[in-house]
Amino acid sequence: MARGNAHFLILILSLLGIHLQEINLCDGVLNSSCNPVERSALLEFKQGLKDTTNRLSSWMGEDCCKWEGVACSNRTRHVIMLDLRNSHPFSNESLGGELKPSLLGLKYLKYLDLSMNNFGGVNVPKFMGSFHHLQYLNLSGAGLGGVLPHQLGNLSNLQYLDLNNDFGLDEFRIDDALWISGLSSLRHLKMKNVNLQNVSNWLQALNVLPSVEEIHLSSCDIEHIPLSLQHVNFTSLALLDLSGNRISPSIPTWLFNISGLQYLDLSHNNLHGHIPSLFENLVSLNNLNLAANSFIQGEIPISLRNLCKLQSCIKTSLEILELSYTGLTGQLPEWLWELKRLRSLDLSNNQIFGSIPASLGQLVSLEEVYFNDNQINGTISESVGRLSELVYLDLNSNFFVGEMSEAHLASLTKLKYLSLSSNSLALKFEHNWLPPFQLESIWMSSCILGPDFPEWLQKQENILILHMTNVGIVDAMPEWFWSLISGAYYLPLSLKYCQKLLILDLGYNEFSGEIPTWVGRRLISLQFLRLRSNKLCGNIPPNLSLLGNIQILDLVGNKLSGTIPQSFGNFIAMTVIRKIPSLLMHVLEVYYMESMLVSTKGGSQEYNKLLTLLNIMDLSNNNLIGKIPTELMNLSGLFGLDLSGNHLTGEIPEKISALQQLESLDLSRNNLSGGIPHSMANMSSLGFLNLSYNNLSGEIPLGNQLLTLFSDPLVYMGNFDLCGFPLDRSCKGSETTQTSNHIDDKNENEMIWLYISFALGFLTGFWTICGTLLLKKNWKICYFRFFDNTFDKVYVCIMMNFRKFAL
Ligand SMILES: *[C@@H]1O[C@H](CO)[C@@H](O)[C@H](O)[C@H]1NC(C)=O
Ligand SMILES: *[C@@H]1O[C@H](CO)[C@@H](O)[C@H](O)[C@H]1NC(C)=O
Ligand SMILES: *[C@@H]1O[C@H](CO)[C@@H](O)[C@H](O)[C@H]1NC(C)=O
Ligand SMILES: *[C@@H]1O[C@H](CO)[C@@H](O)[C@H](O)[C@H]1NC(C)=O
Ligand SMILES: *[C@@H]1O[C@H](CO)[C@@H](O)[C@H](O)[C@H]1NC(C)=O
Ligand SMILES: *[C@@H]1O[C@H](CO)[C@@H](O)[C@H](O)[C@H]1NC(C)=O
Ligand SMILES: *[C@@H]1O[C@H](CO)[C@@H](O)[C@H](O)[C@H]1NC(C)=O
Ligand SMILES: *[C@@H]1O[C@H](CO)[C@@H](O)[C@H](O)[C@H]1NC(C)=O
Ligand SMILES: *[C@@H]1O[C@H](CO)[C@@H](O)[C@H](O)[C@H]1NC(C)=O
Ligand SMILES: *[C@@H]1O[C@H](CO)[C@@H](O)[C@H](O)[C@H]1NC(C)=O
Ligand SMILES: *[C@@H]1O[C@H](CO)[C@@H](O)[C@H](O)[C@H]1NC(C)=O
Ligand SMILES: *[C@@H]1O[C@H](CO)[C@@H](O)[C@H](O)[C@H]1NC(C)=O
Repeated sequence: MARGNAHFLILILSLLGIHLQEINLCDGVLNSSCNPVERSALLEFKQGLKDTTNRLSSWMGEDCCKWEGVACSNRTRHVIMLDLRNSHPFSNESLGGELKPSLLGLKYLKYLDLSMNNFGGVNVPKFMGSFHHLQYLNLSGAGLGGVLPHQLGNLSNLQYLDLNNDFGLDEFRIDDALWISGLSSLRHLKMKNVNLQNVSNWLQALNVLPSVEEIHLSSCDIEHIPLSLQHVNFTSLALLDLSGNRISPSIPTWLFNISGLQYLDLSHNNLHGHIPSLFENLVSLNNLNLAANSFIQGEIPISLRNLCKLQSCIKTSLEILELSYTGLTGQLPEWLWELKRLRSLDLSNNQIFGSIPASLGQLVSLEEVYFNDNQINGTISESVGRLSELVYLDLNSNFFVGEMSEAHLASLTKLKYLSLSSNSLALKFEHNWLPPFQLESIWMSSCILGPDFPEWLQKQENILILHMTNVGIVDAMPEWFWSLISGAYYLPLSLKYCQKLLILDLGYNEFSGEIPTWVGRRLISLQFLRLRSNKLCGNIPPNLSLLGNIQILDLVGNKLSGTIPQSFGNFIAMTVIRKIPSLLMHVLEVYYMESMLVSTKGGSQEYNKLLTLLNIMDLSNNNLIGKIPTELMNLSGLFGLDLSGNHLTGEIPEKISALQQLESLDLSRNNLSGGIPHSMANMSSLGFLNLSYNNLSGEIPLGNQLLTLFSDPLVYMGNFDLCGFPLDRSCKGSETTQTSNHIDDKNENEMIWLYISFALGFLTGFWTICGTLLLKKNWKICYFRFFDNTFDKVYVCIMMNFRKFAL
């Protein structure tokens, strides 16, 4: 590592509180170069490494202290730090190969970081336990795995041990935690995703560490946590993360004796019972997370005593309270409104009832409020308009009634996410109201907005998601609106805004008029366009196909006429099987996740259901005429195609079998003629087919799909010139024979592979957009649940990444 960087690292070290040997300027001769023994140890270590991108090209010459990743003590010139972290984990810059024991030549090593590399799942070498001076060891995401060697317990000077595995296919295991008790200087222990499944003594081992401040044990397969502990030693413990395990049955009460605890995360476990009011003992607690413990029940404790210690009480310390996805019921307790420092309050997806008092407006630090998916009723107090720090407000799916006006949103200058859907709310704003915020995500389905188009949207320039189905608008889509969402308005030909909108759902209103011809040129980021059930008319503009990212196009149930543009074969995103972009996933979740949550078994079936939702073109129930353009058969990534209920004529294109991913095809209720292409028998993904009520003729092709899955005559009914099995009209001159050609269910391996690719795609998607949008936090939970029911590892993976961005 170059000198300048060494300073930087040292700065980091001192920030971490690691004190390197002090420099003593009066210490006489400074050695000029590094120790030759250490130099050759490094060179030999390098020989074992696989370094495809030549990251270690600087490892030559005499002074090894200047080598990339190496730092020496100023005074003794001994190598005290080796930092081979790969800071570009998604690149090919990983080191791999063998970890040679020659490394032991670095006797004075205090800092070793091999994180984010790929050592191919090999075990942590036993010799790692022999670096007596080691204070910092980071093997997070290094691609090491297997049972952790007990020798690590010899590292009595170690202060930081990071074995987190966020992405992990290789996983660390602990067979007996006793060795951990040897880490007597340990301050931070990070072991996310380290398997502790059969380890009973982990708590005892940790309880003897006098300086331990942070313990991260999320997703460690922990099932049991001792309910009683003779003596609670954790005098320095400030952070305890046990999330994503399977801990049951109840919250152990000794936790409430750790009076210095600031951060407690027990989310995503199997905890049962009530929330004990003993929480009031944790006088320093600022972050409490019990979310996604579906068996937690009863009411939120009604009262909390104001126990204070050094002027600190839970009422003044709590900043983040997450109790979503539990079985909590009852009304909101009064003490909630006394949590003056509260920044995030998530009570979503419970069975909380009653109303929200005006006292909510006292919590002026609130940045995030999630009351969604409860049974809260009454009107929304205007006091919410005083929460000037608010960024997220989710009141979705409750029983709120009444009107919301400017006053409700008056000071919310920072608001980015507003969800009011599925209540009985009417939004009534003055004609010229200028909102104080710029929203990125607006969910207003089933609110009363109409009959006129809401004008205040006109100045919302950062919209990414707009969801306002069924809002009672009976109006032409104003030109300014199309312009707003497509960038022409300023938003002149300025590219500033036009690339942003990803999801546009205006379904179930009474929009009239034509789709402007230039929309496709401007909404270049759009992934999801749903204009279903409106009164749009005129031709479909051919340039709509310039929506190069569109994966779901839903124009169902309008009055669109003319032909299907040939250019519709050019929807680029529909020509490939794309991993689902995460934002799109969120929308899909809103529509369809419920069914997934309901099912506990049969995960793969639900997964298939989701798959069929990818790359969908649905133009059904319009007045379209003409032929099915053969160009559509270029959309080889299409999973669903629905052209039913139009006036299409001509033949089903022979090339239709090129749509090899197609799971669902509906051409019913048209005027299609000619035969059913024989090649359709080879469409092996097809799981739903409807050709009924056309003028199709000739013999129904014999093929495994058509025979085994669609021996249902309803598929063909209303076509009077079709013959052969399964109809009882046999074709002249041919005697069809039934074969029972079973197709294997997708085998398990294949499904697992699908899950993995699904999850990876999800992750990449998430990483790429997280910069632009602060995601609604509690979405993460649905993903866990979905994956939890299907494939554990993916579940863990997803959770990790969400957690990373959770705050
Ligand atoms: C540097 O010199 C000191 C004595 O001045 C010695 O103890 C130390 O081992 C030397 N360091 C190296 C790397 O040779
Ligand atoms: C690593 O990736 C970069 C860019 O992604 C590429 O140019 C380079 O050839 C790759 N190197 C190797 C060794 O694969
Ligand atoms: C080592 O020496 C450099 C100057 O050469 C100084 O900037 C740096 O802070 C010293 N490092 C430590 C740990 O004292
Ligand atoms: C260990 O390395 C990872 C990835 O390089 C980093 O994110 C993490 O903060 C490091 N752990 C510690 C304790 O510094
Ligand atoms: C290191 O730990 C192992 C196993 O825990 C033990 O057998 C060995 O004696 C220790 N070595 C040293 C040098 O302390
Ligand atoms: C834990 O024990 C069970 C039952 O003996 C075994 O099937 C499982 O593989 C063990 N897990 C680990 C991580 O060793
Ligand atoms: C508490 O910690 C001390 C060392 O810090 C240890 O000696 C003692 O055994 C611990 N007590 C329990 C009950 O583990
Ligand atoms: C917890 O603290 C209470 C008093 O605050 C004490 O009676 C009890 O013994 C403590 N429990 C443990 C396990 O230390
Ligand atoms: C709200 O619900 C509670 C019971 O769930 C009921 O007693 C109360 O009358 C309701 N209030 C309103 C305004 O509907
Ligand atoms: C459609 O796009 C093409 C190429 O970008 C352009 O020349 C043409 O004018 C557009 N047509 C309409 C109706 O906007
Ligand atoms: C799309 O389909 C048309 C007609 O079927 C064909 O001529 C054209 O080459 C196809 N384009 C691509 C890119 O495959
Ligand atoms: C189908 O075409 C025939 C004649 O070409 C016409 O009479 C009939 O109305 C059409 N049916 C539909 C559903 O468009």
